[in-house]
Amino acid sequence: MLHDPAILPELDVRALDGWTLHEFAEVTSTNSLAAHLPPWSAVSAGMQTAGRGRAGRRWVSDEGGIWLSVVVPTPGDPARWALLPLAAGWAVRTVAHALGIAAARLRWPNDLLVGHQKLAGVLVDRFCTDAAVVGVGLNVTNHPEAGDPALAGQVARLADLLPAVPARPALLVRLLAALTCEHHRVETGDVAGLCRDLNGAWRRRHVQVTLAGGRGAIDGRIEGIDSYGSLLLSSAAGDVRVLPPHRVELLREIF
Ligand code: BTN
Repeated sequence: MLHDPAILPELDVRALDGWTLHEFAEVTSTNSLAAHLPPWSAVSAGMQTAGRGRAGRRWVSDEGGIWLSVVVPTPGDPARWALLPLAAGWAVRTVAHALGIAAARLRWPNDLLVGHQKLAGVLVDRFCTDAAVVGVGLNVTNHPEAGDPALAGQVARLADLLPAVPARPALLVRLLAALTCEHHRVETGDVAGLCRDLNGAWRRRHVQVTLAGGRGAIDGRIEGIDSYGSLLLSSAAGDVRVLPPHRVELLREIF
């Protein structure tokens, strides 16, 4: 079906709540595969051999996690879709909360953390103007630190947070439903509602931001986001900088 040197045969393809879900045992990256598919397609894999994270980072994707990418339509003015990556993060947070993980929180723009440990990440790729690929990585029973010892103590897994881990199909159904819902919110222009939800959920933490392109680092306090999902960061002097996600390589919470 798709051009991927590391692809193992497709396990299943089925219709699910308006999505066509393609399931594989192993791929390079579900986002890369999804790039070849039409809107409302979804790709999930048991493992990724070249999982990609934000800012060009590697994403460890061992057996037991959820590695899912969906293709959503993004018609019209691209600026209208600026909030999609944050909305996708909100979708994953919604699923975590519905599972009973009340402590799950977002770190701008869309990392899902429990405490300071990362439970899930979101990568949005725009391979063309009228569709986006939204990739979600969720640690479930996998052991990312086995693939990268530097992750020891940095990652959270559903298996450590819930008395019983929901079956994989149930998790996929929940994620697909939440992503559909948040895509609809952005499509219908409910920017105010989304910003209200996100800004209500973020604490005014002090952070250090490493700017992309080797432009150094700045400290500041999170004041919220604007209607494009840019971070509003106030300095000790009181001025506020507006930082779109592509200008930020890394955000570290200080306290
Ligand atoms: C991040 O936090 O840096 C984003 C991680 C996104 C990982 C997911 S797993 C499914 C999809 N395929 C990829 O190669 N990346 C995303």
